[in-house]
Amino acid sequence: MKLLHLAVLSGVAALVALSVAGAAMGDSGGGDASPIYGVQVPDGYRKWALIAPAQEAAPLNELRAVVGNDLAIKAYQDSALPFPDGTVLVKLAWKHVQSPEFEPASIPGAATTVQVMVKDSSKYAATGGWGFGRFINGKAVDQAQHETCFACHQARVKNHDFVFTRYAP
Ligand code: HEC
Repeated sequence: MKLLHLAVLSGVAALVALSVAGAAMGDSGGGDASPIYGVQVPDGYRKWALIAPAQEAAPLNELRAVVGNDLAIKAYQDSALPFPDGTVLVKLAWKHVQSPEFEPASIPGAATTVQVMVKDSSKYAATGGWGFGRFINGKAVDQAQHETCFACHQARVKNHDFVFTRYAP
């Protein structure tokens, strides 16, 4: 009798553990959310249209690409500022590596960070309408790093809705 009880109990415990894990995954949409803003890496961003490439020489030595969802691309095409709510911009970055096949050429090495900006003018009213997220291997970096995002974008590109990247010609 006692043994049967234990078996039933452990079965229940396993079910509870399973459903807790399932709920946790469902709540986060399957991805990590950034501190302060709760921004996630958007589904399917890897297939979004290119806005522009970028490069950082030092100290990070990275190749970068900024892509946007359909709302972002339309806003660029219409030269419409501010960007509308629902705009999402993603900056991908890789280590800058010399091509092993042709010396003068550069190729992307290991992926470094994925950075995201989401426009929601009421939710993120305190930061120019933008929510920020920086991710390494799908995990959001710490809060201290997220405290730097708006300060730099605000100091330098306030007149372009806090967005640096212009559409590449
Ligand atoms: C010291 C300045 C600085 C800080 C801090 C900074 N950024 Fe940026 N960010 C830039 C620059 C410059 C670009 C233009 C693209 C490039 O050169 O890489 C950029 C571009 C972006 C873009 C593409 C859209 C755009 O504005 O061009 C996103 C998304 C982004 N940053 C997210 C973030 C997030 C998230 C953080 C904080 C974790 C952050 N940034 C912190 C300078 C900064």
